[in-house]
Formats: sequence, C-alpha cells, structure tokens
Amino acid sequence: MINSTINGKNTSVDVAPDTPVLWALRDTLGLTGTKFGCGAALCGACTVHLNGQAIRSCITPISSVAGQKITTIEAIGEDKVGKAVQAAWIKHDVAQCGYCQSGQIMSATALLKTKKKPSDADIDSAMAGNICRCGTYVRIRAAIHDAASTLA
Ligand code: FES
Ligand code: FES
Repeated sequence: MINSTINGKNTSVDVAPDTPVLWALRDTLGLTGTKFGCGAALCGACTVHLNGQAIRSCITPISSVAGQKITTIEAIGEDKVGKAVQAAWIKHDVAQCGYCQSGQIMSATALLKTKKKPSDADIDSAMAGNICRCGTYVRIRAAIHDAASTLA
C-alpha cells in the first residue's frame, strides 16, 4: 500500500511498488485525464506535478512518490496558475485532437510557477519534452504568453 496526497486528498493505492504513477492514476484511481503516449519519457503526454514540478508519470514508480504531493490535470484548475493556463488554452483554442494537451497544460503551469514572464526561448525549452502530433505549438506559445499576462 502506497500513501500519497493526490489532488489534495490523502490517497492509498494498493499496487506493486514498481507500478508507474501513470497506471496507478489511470487504472487504479480512474484519473484518466493523464494520458499514455510513449511510456518512455519521450512525449510528455503523461506529465503530472510532483510537489509542483512537472514529471513524467510513465517512468516514475509509485513507491518513489510515497508521502509526496501529486497533482493531475483533474485538479490543476484549482490552482491559480493552472486556472489561468486553462482559460488561455480555451481562449486560443489550442487543442486539436487534444490527446497531448493535459500534459502540455501541466508543463505550461509548472513553467509559469517558476518563471512569471517566460520568453519564447524559455517556453520552447520548457515545453520541448511535450510532443504534439497535431502541431499546436504556435497556439501553445501564444496561450502561455497570454496566461502570463493575466497573472501579472
Ligand atoms: S507517456 Fe510518458 S513521456 Fe510519453
Ligand atoms: S492536439 Fe493532437 S497531439 Fe496535440
């Protein structure tokens, strides 16, 4: 049994210690907003926050997050920065197929928590690990700038 705080609630997950956080979230807890893409830390679809930092849940064993705080896309709107990012995503109509976008929003929110006014280069560097097959990168960048301006 692994105990963590998931989306603000103390949560026990009864899975093998080496189970990736992604599968504990999706299969055991029913939090399916976090997506599976590559399973190898290459695409960013599975991005969640661990104590506020973006991590790849597909390669993170659940045992390594015991006693720590995980936030997923389901709760990111309860965070001031996450809420601004989601609003900017809607305003800029960022999503195309949408599959990568929960991971994109998690990475964008983590970026804006550490850098209030990111440059294009900051955005490109922070978001480089989040692949979008639909090529929504231009709108992602515009939405991040917009979210930054609404938070200023
Ligand atoms: S599914 Fe985790 S990075 Fe691709
Ligand atoms: S919106 Fe389709 S993969 Fe990004």
